[in-house]
Amino acid sequence: MAAIMLLSVFFVSGALASCPEHAQPLVTTPQEMEALSGSCLQIPCNFSINAEETFDRTGPTSGLWIKSNYYYYFGSKVVFNGNMMENIYPMSLTGDLSQKDCSTLFSSVITSYTGSYLFRIDNRPLRRTETCDPLQIKVKDSPRSPTIEIPGDLKEAESVTVTCSAPAPCPHSPPKLTWTLQQDPPNTMEENPDRTFTTKIQKTLTLTDQHDGFNITCSASYPVNEGKDVKTAEETKTLHVSYAPKDVTVVVSPADPVSVGSLVNLTCSCRGIRAADGFAWLMMMSDGRLHTMEDNTQLYVFEVTNSDRGRSYFCGCSNVLGLQLSKGRALIFE
Ligand SMILES: *[C@@H]1O[C@H](CO)[C@@H](O)[C@H](O)[C@H]1NC(C)=O
Ligand SMILES: *[C@@H]1O[C@H](CO)[C@@H](O)[C@H](O)[C@H]1NC(C)=O
Ligand SMILES: *[C@@H]1O[C@H](CO)[C@@H](O)[C@H](O)[C@H]1NC(C)=O
Repeated sequence: MAAIMLLSVFFVSGALASCPEHAQPLVTTPQEMEALSGSCLQIPCNFSINAEETFDRTGPTSGLWIKSNYYYYFGSKVVFNGNMMENIYPMSLTGDLSQKDCSTLFSSVITSYTGSYLFRIDNRPLRRTETCDPLQIKVKDSPRSPTIEIPGDLKEAESVTVTCSAPAPCPHSPPKLTWTLQQDPPNTMEENPDRTFTTKIQKTLTLTDQHDGFNITCSASYPVNEGKDVKTAEETKTLHVSYAPKDVTVVVSPADPVSVGSLVNLTCSCRGIRAADGFAWLMMMSDGRLHTMEDNTQLYVFEVTNSDRGRSYFCGCSNVLGLQLSKGRALIFE
């Protein structure tokens, strides 16, 4: 207890107030790290010393973490000293200091651990504290949504790989990812260039028109409180797939039977059409000759005459991926 009391009244002397230009940082860590309360945070950390300093690999070495709630503020305190049995914060050095690896595991984090952290190396006579480049740690109560990546401009018959990923700040108990694309997808963990970790799931799809409008929901479930609880975050993205027109039909309105002299609407109905896509109309005469009509709109309105007996109407829907013709549709007369 006495040690803790002593530690908490330990102030970092004026060092934090100055930050000389071109100062070589002591440690290399990510600039900002986000952790989930109830889980752990693995901090990748290396340190390097100035050319004129000597580091004694065999001598007694200690690593300390100093927390400051404000940039360059005097009221900072040592929250962890590797040489102490008891510390204010539940941290442990997992890296080998003699290899200049100051990687640290922060276990059971809570939101009040949010703040700026500075590392100090003590390898007497060498004693240096990071002054310019604090590590910002944010401890949040709920996890961030996972990220769904879908390549742009999807077309039918193409193969695409869809990925969902979530950060794993505590690689010992990473999030479990699941999604609506497949059951129990195999989760893989990847190390990022900054030595943090990401959990991922992936699936390669051969696209069809049935994928258009499909919602992919990905959930990341983080174990917390030694696995007793789970915190979950979700993300949904919709697949937009272009495809050649499908299900092209001629719709007659009012419904048959028709009578000579009445007005009839023929509508070209199809799937896969967006604004600015095109239509075409064809008429097959009773003698089998095909006649192209000039009216290339979705709706074709005309007055029924006796010569329409025995004729068939065809329509076509077209977009950048192709043209699809309907079957012939003959009018049924009264
Ligand atoms: C940091 O330490 C790791 C592990 O010892 C090493 O692989 C890596 O090269 C070091 N990186 C830097 C920038 O010193
Ligand atoms: C997909 O999600 C959108 C937006 O959340 C919703 O409007 C749509 O109805 C959903 N589609 C399906 C097929 O569930
Ligand atoms: C035919 O189309 C016209 C123009 O859109 C519309 O006003 C009319 O109600 C339609 N008639 C029928 C029977 O669908």
